[in-house]
Amino acid sequence: MTDLTQLEADLTGRIAAAADAAALEAVRVEALGKSGSISELLKGLGKMSPDERREQGPKINGLRDKVAAAIAEKKAALDAAELDARLASERVDLTLPPPPERKGRVHPTMQTLDEMIAVFGEMGFALAEGPDIEDDFHNFTALNFPPNHPAREMHDTFWLPPNETGERKLLRTHTSPVQIRVMQQGQNGKLPAWIAQGQAPPIRVIVPGRVYRSDSDATHTPMFHQLEGLVIDRDIHMGHLKWTLDAFTRRFFETDAVVTRFRPHHFPFTEPSCEMDVQCDRSGGSIKIGQGTDWLEILGGGMVHPNVIRNCGLDPDEWQGFAFGMGVDRLGSLKYGMPDLRDMFAADVRWLEHYGFSAFQAPNPATGLS
Ligand code: DAH
Repeated sequence: MTDLTQLEADLTGRIAAAADAAALEAVRVEALGKSGSISELLKGLGKMSPDERREQGPKINGLRDKVAAAIAEKKAALDAAELDARLASERVDLTLPPPPERKGRVHPTMQTLDEMIAVFGEMGFALAEGPDIEDDFHNFTALNFPPNHPAREMHDTFWLPPNETGERKLLRTHTSPVQIRVMQQGQNGKLPAWIAQGQAPPIRVIVPGRVYRSDSDATHTPMFHQLEGLVIDRDIHMGHLKWTLDAFTRRFFETDAVVTRFRPHHFPFTEPSCEMDVQCDRSGGSIKIGQGTDWLEILGGGMVHPNVIRNCGLDPDEWQGFAFGMGVDRLGSLKYGMPDLRDMFAADVRWLEHYGFSAFQAPNPATGLS
């Protein structure tokens, strides 16, 4: 005969000691499960004599009710404790400062480009763009590079493999092909919308973009950025070009102390052609503008060659203009004092932290340069 008092003490002790829902469930199965100790006792009632049953029945049923109640009570306590723990661990303290976020920086090239666009924007230039992958016609032929002329080699072109028709495309070596795309008549609707479409003169556009040449040293990188300018109107002359570039340079460098010099040069697509240098000091591992005895070439320009105007379907006796192309990265390195152009594209995070601009503090001519 099972000692009911002992069994009750044993079960209630284990219920009280159950540390979690799984331990409590194990006790419940052991006592009240199909072959649990109390279930077995209840089954035994059927085999007893009526007298015995009358005596044992209420005791065993009472024990079952007590144990069931103890389990229910313990289960409620465990559930409450678990909820308290979760609430405590998942509590969000809204008064804490947010965790620090990694801040990106505006790359000096993009900062420089924004500033250049803003300065030319003030002068009334509109923006145009063209594709990085160009064809020989736009990059060379239409720009008056004669076939097989050594000037084509001068550009250290990256050529792409021939396509199905045998044509070899190239990575544009300068932004000048966009001059053609802007001037070329009858192109509307035949090109993707973002590519410059032929527009009727008068034309006043700037063209920023990436250009590519197989060349690398402290002042050359295989990919760099240029900003092209093109003005086509009646009675345009070299004086307009000089004034525009001088005014741009003073505004861009934010000083009247900047000294420029124009040298005669040769480009197939301009006649006459020139290059412009800015005076600077390159001693001591950095570049300072407006002082020193060094000159750094920052752009080429000239009067658009009549053949180029003719190649675009315009009459050179009616329309003239000037064009220029400048190195964006080079202008940025001059303004912000970076001696080696290759650092611009080395993707060195420490360099970017140092020379990059905060998106919120970047000086920008659109909002006042400084
Ligand atoms: N495309 C020339 C280069 O990359 C730069 C240039 C020179 C652009 C004279 C012009 C120009 O528009 O008129 O070296």
